[in-house]
Amino acid sequence: MIDWLGALLRLRVNGYPDIMILDRVKPLDAILAAASKKSLKRTMSGFQLMLFGIGCIIGTGIFVLTAAGAQKAGPGLMLAFAIAGVICIVAALCYAEIASTVPVSGSAYTYTYATMGEFLAWTVGWALVLEYAIAASAVSVGWSGYFVGTILNETFGIHLPAWLSGGPLALGGVEGGFINLPALVIALLVTWLLMIGTSESAKFNAVLVTIKVTALTIFIALTLPQVDAEKFNPFLPAGLFGGFGSGVGAVGAAATIFFAYVGFDAVSTAAEETKDPQRNVPIGLVGSLLFCTVFYIAVAAGAIGTIGGQPIMGPGGIPFPAGSEELARQCALPQFSAALVCSDEALAHVLRQIGWSGVGNALGYAAFLALPSVILVLLFAQTRIFFVMSRDGLLPEVLSRVHPKWHTPYIVTIATGAVVAVAAAFLPVGQLADIANAGTLYAFAMVAIAVLVLRRQRPEIPRPFKVRGVWFVAPAAVAGCVFLFLNLPFEAMMVLPVWSVIGLVLYFAYSRSRSHLGRGIVEVVDDIEGDEDLVPIKPPEA
Ligand code: ALA
Repeated sequence: MIDWLGALLRLRVNGYPDIMILDRVKPLDAILAAASKKSLKRTMSGFQLMLFGIGCIIGTGIFVLTAAGAQKAGPGLMLAFAIAGVICIVAALCYAEIASTVPVSGSAYTYTYATMGEFLAWTVGWALVLEYAIAASAVSVGWSGYFVGTILNETFGIHLPAWLSGGPLALGGVEGGFINLPALVIALLVTWLLMIGTSESAKFNAVLVTIKVTALTIFIALTLPQVDAEKFNPFLPAGLFGGFGSGVGAVGAAATIFFAYVGFDAVSTAAEETKDPQRNVPIGLVGSLLFCTVFYIAVAAGAIGTIGGQPIMGPGGIPFPAGSEELARQCALPQFSAALVCSDEALAHVLRQIGWSGVGNALGYAAFLALPSVILVLLFAQTRIFFVMSRDGLLPEVLSRVHPKWHTPYIVTIATGAVVAVAAAFLPVGQLADIANAGTLYAFAMVAIAVLVLRRQRPEIPRPFKVRGVWFVAPAAVAGCVFLFLNLPFEAMMVLPVWSVIGLVLYFAYSRSRSHLGRGIVEVVDDIEGDEDLVPIKPPEA
């Protein structure tokens, strides 16, 4: 029944397939040998893993994109959170299996390298730039909304001039906007912290998770009792399905607020440090996602059920695109000044509107404090992916140069941080999130396929966590990712193929001839200061 996979890809571990482009599969045994040598202490419990997951997940998605989601789906946003949550949960199960089987750094990139070869791994690594770097930009812009609204305006009464508080209107910024200075500064600040070797301790993460969860719990407790059922009517003002590429309707909103779940894959990287992984890895991954899904739906219900969240409709009764110049112009009109869909700090805005200004500000402080740690995790993940790709020879080796004092890959950190900061300075949060989602969905789908390829190629290797019904779950994850991808706004969807073409040019012009694997060296690096195995192998026949 499943022979099509092998036939299609013609892959053999330690072998060289007939399709030239799919050659160079990184020998899994070398990876497993390096991982077993490293053997980190298994100290994390299921609960700790869940906290870690929630720390990476809750961020700009719920605190800010609730507004963009409502503009796309109105009250159907609640359904959108459920759709995106379910797709993430099936994808998470696949991550859990492969991370427990191949517990090395590089995440989706390394899993693909070990199962489907260098070429596809390159495309995944390249797409992960969108997931991590562009997502870091999106969270920086989200943070900026709370900084300008809660800290500057509400607390200090300072009004940042429009030209410093958002990107140009033509790019979906603000009227009179030029640069989002706070977003630029926070991205650079976090880059600096990473460069000098800051990493988040488990305790610090637990504190931030407590702050975020408390803020959301208070939000739910204050808003749900005031919900007016009338506000949910019509429930699907833009329909369930707005059409592929339209980016509207409940499914279009699901494709955008999918961003609110991004980050759970970081949990999979801790599989190796988890006690009883068969039990705890799925608890950590699925538990954190389930927890967030329930919370997100309740938050959306509280926000829309109190102040309303109907989209601002454009010509033909179709909502104006979130993050568009037209919507920004509408939002500048007095009748929409208090609309949920126009707010840059959606949740604080709701609380202020229903008479809880002080609590709204406190929630703003929570976002102000907690969002930078999400930027940190995303930027960290990005630099480590680049680091591994560079150590594999696919990117210039200078990128993996480690600083003598800070012991961090400082060059790649500075380069990534600069790009993240520039994107944050000029682009709106919704568009950045959509672009990040496009890359993430591709990587998630490839991980699900990698799980199936590995099951078929290497049924015998130990899998501390094994997905039950994998031949249903993994294809469901792939189908879910493709479905959400097709429901992104057309422009965001197109970024992935354009980005991929740039990546392919780079691969064939630079990386392929320099690849260590292509030159007969398998380099397995588990972390910056960790063990490093150089395993000579038979060079591939041309
Ligand atoms: N899920 C993370 C957020 O919403 C990326 O900020």
